[in-house]
Amino acid sequence: MLLKIVNMKVWVSYTLSSLRQTYEEVRVVPIISIRNLSKTYASGFHALKNINLDIRQGEIFALLGPNGAGKTTLISIICGLVTPGEGQVLIDGEDNSSNFRATRSLIGLVPQELAIATFESVLATMNFSRGLFGKAPDSIHIEKVLRDLSLWDKRHERIVNLSGGMKRRVLIAKALAHEPKILFLDEPTAGIDVEQRHSMWGMVRRLRENGVTIILTTHYIDEAEEMADRIGVISEGEISVVEEKTVLMNKLGKKQLTLTLQAPLSSIPDELSTFSLELTDQGNVLVYTFDTQKENTGISDLLRQLDKLGIDFKDLHSSQSSLEEIFVSLVRDKGASLKP
Ligand SMILES: Nc1ncnc2c1ncn2[C@@H]1O[C@H](COP(=O)(O)OP(=O)(O)OP(=O)(O)O)[C@@H](O)[C@H]1O
Ligand SMILES: [Mg+2]
Repeated sequence: MLLKIVNMKVWVSYTLSSLRQTYEEVRVVPIISIRNLSKTYASGFHALKNINLDIRQGEIFALLGPNGAGKTTLISIICGLVTPGEGQVLIDGEDNSSNFRATRSLIGLVPQELAIATFESVLATMNFSRGLFGKAPDSIHIEKVLRDLSLWDKRHERIVNLSGGMKRRVLIAKALAHEPKILFLDEPTAGIDVEQRHSMWGMVRRLRENGVTIILTTHYIDEAEEMADRIGVISEGEISVVEEKTVLMNKLGKKQLTLTLQAPLSSIPDELSTFSLELTDQGNVLVYTFDTQKENTGISDLLRQLDKLGIDFKDLHSSQSSLEEIFVSLVRDKGASLKP
């Protein structure tokens, strides 16, 4: 009996440790690994400069950057549509140029440009797209994708007759036809209405729950704030920041405490000069900006000082900077502010 219990304990601890190991492996081994990647177009334009980036399996990674930063170029190289100048891209451990067919079949790409003014029906396009990757027909999968994208009712419609937003959703459906493990969404919600945008976010999350890795670019920073696990910022062909979204927001996000005063002040009293304060709204509102990373925010000191000076307030509220504000400052300073 005792031996049985001991054996059981050994088995449980062995199983736990191997499970932990498997989890670590899944977490650590990147699904995409980009090493020293550079690209100079035939025009001589240096679009990407020594990019090093790992994408983790099962994450939603948002690649943010201004127009012309190199996002589409990077995606096109990963998908094997544009040849890299130098460097290497590994997809699930395989080189994407020497193993193009195998690596490409793991990928679904929703391109930025709408280039599908075809006379084929939605359903025919989906089935054709799945066949292109050598997958057997699967009407249940196709129906599920079309229903998820609110396109089921339009399945017999010719794509050329769809609206712009519907065409973009067809592009997403097409990219999912062959059940890829990795999905690239290059500005997927440009031109999509608010309701469809939200339902697309839901769909992307469900894909992630099923283990699909998602890389998206967007100029709607709220989209990245809502969806992404990690954020990468690229500008002028260089990646300046790669960080967990929550860490990025905590590290660089500023918090503000806004106090609406009982009586207006003509200026900030000298006794408060050590606090980062701004007087607005004709002296009626005092705004205190503080660092979210610091242990002591200084709020209680400030409130004590205000009390001492007899400055009363009738309302106070705090707010945190959005990812959009952080992004703008990152692109302006090219990531310098993230360094400790
Ligand atoms: N085929 C090409 N030949 C020459 N230059 C190109 C080519 N394609 C892109 N470029 C240039 O490379 C740079 C990066 O373009 P890219 O399309 O990758 O930017 P992006 O970050 O996707 O921008 P956007 O947000 O506008 O989509 C731009 O300056 C662009 O003009
Ligand atoms: Mg682009």
